[in-house]
Amino acid sequence: MLAMLSCSKKQLALVSLLFFIFYSPQTVIANKKPFGITVASSRSLREIESSPRPADNKVETGQQMEGSTSNITNTTANATSGWSIVKEELTYLAGSAPFNSCHASTIVEIEKDNYLVAYFGGSKEGAPDVKIWLQRYSDGCWHPPQVADEQDGVPMWNPVLFQLPSRELLLFYKIGQEVQKWSGAMKRSLDGGISWSQRQQLPPGILGPIKNKPFLLEDGRLLCGSSVESWNSWGAWLEVTEDAGRTWRKYGPIYIEGETLGVIQPVPYRTANGTIRMLLRSFDTIGRVCMADSADGGVTWSYSHKTALPNPNSGIDGVKMKDGRVLLAYNTFSRSTLKIAVSADDGDSWDEVLTLEDTKGMEFSYPAVIQTMDDLVHVTYTYNRTQIKHVVLEDSRKKSFHLRG
Ligand SMILES: *[C@@H]1O[C@H](CO)[C@@H](O)[C@H](O)[C@H]1NC(C)=O
Ligand SMILES: *[C@@H]1O[C@H](CO)[C@@H](O)[C@H](O)[C@H]1NC(C)=O
Ligand SMILES: *[C@@H]1O[C@H](CO)[C@@H](O)[C@H](O)[C@H]1NC(C)=O
Ligand SMILES: *[C@@H]1O[C@H](CO)[C@@H](O)[C@H](O)[C@H]1NC(C)=O
Ligand SMILES: *[C@@H]1O[C@H](CO)[C@@H](O)[C@H](O)[C@H]1NC(C)=O
Repeated sequence: MLAMLSCSKKQLALVSLLFFIFYSPQTVIANKKPFGITVASSRSLREIESSPRPADNKVETGQQMEGSTSNITNTTANATSGWSIVKEELTYLAGSAPFNSCHASTIVEIEKDNYLVAYFGGSKEGAPDVKIWLQRYSDGCWHPPQVADEQDGVPMWNPVLFQLPSRELLLFYKIGQEVQKWSGAMKRSLDGGISWSQRQQLPPGILGPIKNKPFLLEDGRLLCGSSVESWNSWGAWLEVTEDAGRTWRKYGPIYIEGETLGVIQPVPYRTANGTIRMLLRSFDTIGRVCMADSADGGVTWSYSHKTALPNPNSGIDGVKMKDGRVLLAYNTFSRSTLKIAVSADDGDSWDEVLTLEDTKGMEFSYPAVIQTMDDLVHVTYTYNRTQIKHVVLEDSRKKSFHLRG
């Protein structure tokens, strides 16, 4: 909350100043920094202005987001679950990016109020002009996209950002004409993503974290959920590095017994009793989020089996929160509906807690989920293939705990 309020205060001061100068809310919007706050976040400014407790406020129905033709969903707070959206914004205005199409975002907290998002963008997914882009949130607003890497005539795919406790920042991605031809690549940054190393190619057969952030164990092993989508054969692997991506081992395959087109794009985490578990996207014929377990630290794996959560062959992401619960963002029966569920038993059972999006004819997909130092949950996702949306979630039931902490 503090992060948002201080950020918002700054914006509020800017907006008030411009309002004073131009006497018109339209002009205020037009005079903001080019990639600055959207109507959505200026709406949250109004909420903060009218009340010091933004999470208790409801978003009005039917308000249009700047730079899009879509209404914000009305499900910003769920009184039953206690979860609410405390902020939502697009990372750049519609039509303002140097690419038509983008997808597969990833987010990392560099330090307080400073986030980095990466995604792939170009004329369309898989086109030879698709590059990896980076965008930073700092000083209370999103800055314009910048190229992180490009390869003449060959598309790039699914970036994944992760910051190690040493503060070394890793950017993984894939390069290849099509999914079956991917090679894994990475770059490193020692200054929070301001400057980056040259591209390093991962060893043959190692693709790196395929869509979702890795999970770091206390013993320093970085667990990267990977997968292979080759002809009539889909399955997952756990790729493990103990030295920040310099050497690798991989364990698997992890698949559904008797299914050739099974599971991909794992979300790895450690359960309370030390089991290494992964949640997985599944093929259309399976239709559920799947799960697999390893009782020996990720070396040998169970077959993957269905959970109760639906999955329309679409990317998921989740986070093992500091309080031990697991939060998952997932599409239900199409990419037009994006929901949040929480599990208090490491994924054995789930409670649906929030609907982030539900608009027919639009795509809200490939969520990336992190929990920040202030305990809030940040989700970025593809907004109809043309923009990236960033939402911040809060569990109001945790509020008294936050205040005491
Ligand atoms: C947004 O919702 C309002 C109220 O339901 C409606 O009047 C308006 O046409 C909608 N705008 C768009 C772009 O869908
Ligand atoms: C929007 O949500 C409020 C409560 O949060 C509810 O009273 C209202 O009926 C909802 N509007 C629509 C159009 O769903
Ligand atoms: C470990 O925890 C998981 C998740 O709660 C559970 O499914 C599994 O049965 C547990 N294993 C043991 C050996 O207790
Ligand atoms: C609100 O939370 C309750 C309890 O977790 C859940 O049953 C319900 O489906 C949620 N509503 C939405 C719209 O997510
Ligand atoms: C979303 O994308 C679809 C497919 O490209 C397009 O037909 C639709 O107009 C878009 N909707 C909005 C509101 O941008």
